[in-house]
Amino acid sequence: MIELRDVHKRFGANEVLKGITAAVEKSEVVCIIGPSGSGKSTILRCINGLESYEAGDILVEGARVDAHSPSIVDIRTQISMVFQRFNLFPHRTALENIMEGPIYVKKEPRAEALERGRDLLMQVGLAGKADAYPTQLSGGQQQRVAIARALAMQPKAILFDEPTSALDPELVGEVLSVMRKLADDGMTMVVVTHEMAFAKDVADRVLFIDGGVIVEQGAAKTVLNQPQHARTQDFLRRVLHPL
Ligand SMILES: Nc1ncnc2c1ncn2[C@@H]1O[C@H](COP(=O)(O)OP(=O)(O)OP(=O)(O)O)[C@@H](O)[C@H]1O
Ligand SMILES: [Mg+2]
Repeated sequence: MIELRDVHKRFGANEVLKGITAAVEKSEVVCIIGPSGSGKSTILRCINGLESYEAGDILVEGARVDAHSPSIVDIRTQISMVFQRFNLFPHRTALENIMEGPIYVKKEPRAEALERGRDLLMQVGLAGKADAYPTQLSGGQQQRVAIARALAMQPKAILFDEPTSALDPELVGEVLSVMRKLADDGMTMVVVTHEMAFAKDVADRVLFIDGGVIVEQGAAKTVLNQPQHARTQDFLRRVLHPL
């Protein structure tokens, strides 16, 4: 469904992606792990055209992603993104946040967007919070609204950029369990995360990226339990045993 072929990306003199080649199949869950600054967010942002890239190809169901092409709007409605800091509209209720994209971007009838919005709030366990504003919700609840908002676009895939790392520890589980359910339902997901237990349990594959290159990729349990490369081993040791 998503294919990256030798993708290079630079910010000025700083080459951030140095030839990324990877693929995500339909219904697959791929976790991207790696140190800060390694290029994880940049990969996600290139996939849905929030950033351009200089060389290589990114294909979504065969269509080339080009941040400067008018067709990028279609790609962005097909590939939703969930951010670390939720990015909900502060002056809209939970339900309005979810309905915004379908109504204004996809031009859906309001009644249809409303019905699906309510369904989605129920799916993420927030049926009672339709009229709450983001400031009236906990971080975990806001992130679940953000996931419902992503789903409201009926995307082909969802990209998650550290969806739980801004949350208090006791709120992480409720967000991960919504994500796990999505994965079980067959959603195609690319997840940048430091939650190794989630990656081990839910991901089909893990990519370890360092310095703008994929150092190691493979079945989640293989990469996480028996990493082959010294850099992967070092990273996992630091993440799993920070002291
Ligand atoms: N808009 C930008 N302008 C200039 N440099 C940028 C920009 N965005 C990212 N970078 C640089 O690109 C590199 C990769 O950044 P990226 O955000 O992809 O890393 P990351 O792996 O997501 O890190 P983190 O785990 O801290 O989120 C970093 O060196 C960063 O400083
Ligand atoms: Mg990042």
